[in-house]
Amino acid sequence: MTAPAQPVDQFDLVIFGGTGDLAVRKLLPAMFHRFADGQILEGSRIIGVAREALDDDGYRNQIRSALNGAAESHPGKVDAFLKQVHYRSLDARKDDGWDDFAKLMGKCPDHVRVFYLSTSPDLFVDICQRLGHYGLNKCESRVVLEKPIGHDLASANRINDDVGSVFAESQTFRIDHYLGKETVQNLLALRFGNALFEPLWNAGHIDHVQITVAETLGVGRRGPYYDHAGALRDMVQNHMLQLLCMVAMEPPASLSPDAVRDEKLKVLHALKPIDDSNASQLTVRGQYRAGAAEGRSVPGYIEDLNADSKVKVEKSNTETFVALKAEIGNWRWSGVPFYLRTGKRLADRVSEIVVAFKPVPHSIFTASAGPLAQNRLVLRLQPDEGVKLWLTIKHPGPGGLRLRHVPLDMSFAEAFGVQQPDAYERLLLDVVRGNPTLFMRRDEVEAAWRWADPILAAWAGSGEAPRPYTSGTWGPSAAVALIERDGRTWDEDFE
Ligand code: BG6
Repeated sequence: MTAPAQPVDQFDLVIFGGTGDLAVRKLLPAMFHRFADGQILEGSRIIGVAREALDDDGYRNQIRSALNGAAESHPGKVDAFLKQVHYRSLDARKDDGWDDFAKLMGKCPDHVRVFYLSTSPDLFVDICQRLGHYGLNKCESRVVLEKPIGHDLASANRINDDVGSVFAESQTFRIDHYLGKETVQNLLALRFGNALFEPLWNAGHIDHVQITVAETLGVGRRGPYYDHAGALRDMVQNHMLQLLCMVAMEPPASLSPDAVRDEKLKVLHALKPIDDSNASQLTVRGQYRAGAAEGRSVPGYIEDLNADSKVKVEKSNTETFVALKAEIGNWRWSGVPFYLRTGKRLADRVSEIVVAFKPVPHSIFTASAGPLAQNRLVLRLQPDEGVKLWLTIKHPGPGGLRLRHVPLDMSFAEAFGVQQPDAYERLLLDVVRGNPTLFMRRDEVEAAWRWADPILAAWAGSGEAPRPYTSGTWGPSAAVALIERDGRTWDEDFE
């Protein structure tokens, strides 16, 4: 039996970029689920803000159609939810409408106000300055910044300084939705709630770690953003480094926000630099070409970029795939490679962390028993969240002692009979409750950029184009070579 969800106190959530893809596809459905579960009390308001001229009803209609699937599981709750949804048309760079918006927000209400900036980072500063001008940063106000925070360390610092001149660090929630995924939080439970793993969680017993975040989709309509970002900025600098930190951090003294974030920061500081002296051996970047994904033929990256754009491009140096070998220079992880790979239009949609243990030091079995395989702990983030522990056992029955490698397999959905909540459901309510444990502190973002910037500089300096790969494959063959050079292979046991 799952414990009933506790309601959160009344709040206002303002979503800048309220008609954008993230708001419509993720944030509003996340709030609907929390509402349907009884966690959002009457009187709370969700206010979409964007430039589009819409009224409350026009916005509600957009949201109603975006909720479709979610609404089916909670018939009858959609209308009540939509009553709490409002809309204001505002331009961050123009005065019109801001006076009214400030009135709507009230001077210093006795409830929490959350301003979620689901916009391009170029607008973060304008929006925050306006909020500050109207005193909306005062009292119980919080600001949520969507990634990417900047384009590199210098631009991230500028954004953080400017936002920081309006909102204190304690009011600033830098969201990385991977930290809200159930499996990622489960990593904390597995590592620090079981006596079993921690003694083995080090270079003495772990051979290597793999983190894969593979997507089958291409860049879709996000081409203009993506072509300026690329996979390293879009996925590695934030989501994948955060996953790496959760695997590699020392046990924090408690789950208090700073205890956890201090430990993650130490990992980021201990990452060995990748720069122009070693980037060509430690990294591979790729870009998808036309191919087949999920049973249909799909265009290449350049065609995707040109599909929606008036200005056509013939080539781009942006990577849609990255594989790299990271190392953490500290006692616990010395010599243990962390292989990271992520890409668009790959063979499967799957995100996994694989912790591969060292082989047993001596085999007592004869060759006829079959090979001894490594124990692996696989934490599946998607599609079907769960944990698998690969063990060696005897093949049952007569016929001599033959070894088999089998998983202890737990799918969270099957084991608990509940649909796993979307990461945003958890994180949005954490902001309302004022719990920043699963949000990135400024120094973490900076440390992540400090590691990523030299990689980007090395790629730019090399003048090499990303390696082409066919859509529907696992990326360029050089990514396979990257890990095979070390006598290892990518885990591709994704059933
Ligand atoms: C976003 C990236 O942060 O994460 C996208 O900008 C990516 O490019 C997405 O597709 C992946 O999230 P998820 O939860 O679908 O794995």
